[in-house]
Amino acid sequence: MNSSYAKNNYGRVFEQIVKSSLARNIVELGVLYGYSTIHLAKGLAYNKTHFGIFGHLNSYDLWESYPYKHTAMPKTQDIINESNLGDFITLNKGDAFEVYEKYDDESICLLHVDISNTGETIKRIMPLWNSKIRRNGIILFEGGSVERDNVDWMLKYKEPPIRDEINSNKIINEVYSVNTYEKFPSLTALHKNKAG
Ligand SMILES: C[S@@+](CC[C@H](N)C(=O)[O-])C[C@H]1O[C@@H](n2cnc3c(N)ncnc32)[C@H](O)[C@@H]1O
Repeated sequence: MNSSYAKNNYGRVFEQIVKSSLARNIVELGVLYGYSTIHLAKGLAYNKTHFGIFGHLNSYDLWESYPYKHTAMPKTQDIINESNLGDFITLNKGDAFEVYEKYDDESICLLHVDISNTGETIKRIMPLWNSKIRRNGIILFEGGSVERDNVDWMLKYKEPPIRDEINSNKIINEVYSVNTYEKFPSLTALHKNKAG
């Protein structure tokens, strides 16, 4: 499937994080063709079979309203139906900077953010979503490596680096521990250490 995550098999990482965290309520921002969506759901399917844990993934995208690379929700729904993981996934249309309002505080176990991330994305997402993450919950951001901050479009449009924002972000520093998987495109895992 067409995804920058596929090259280095990040699907395995998504699946494993869901298995080891036993996450139940998962939210994803940025779906496109559903590569990360399907692998997060594989973890949920494993947890159902092996531990009787019924988790669910709500995934949001702007679909045709996004002016750059995008697809239509029914096309991604077809891909998900073919994967036989449809019971674990609900696709939604929604803006990453608005749909946080649908969630209660400390209700989300795992949030995955992949909306053509830049440092600005992290800066805006953290204050909106932090309170929604439960203690010991996880936020996954696409990016965080130096290589990812230097891809053509980040340099061309002078986008603020993700890594600098992660290092300087007050909420991240005070509430989360940070680990970045460095293989391209890289993935940063924030583990919530404190309530709030
Ligand atoms: C890099 S793709 C997601 C890739 C996908 N997670 C994967 O595993 O391959 C980015 C997606 O984010 C969506 N997007 C961009 N800005 C958004 C926003 N503010 N809210 C929701 N979705 C957004 C785009 O429509 C696009 O489909």
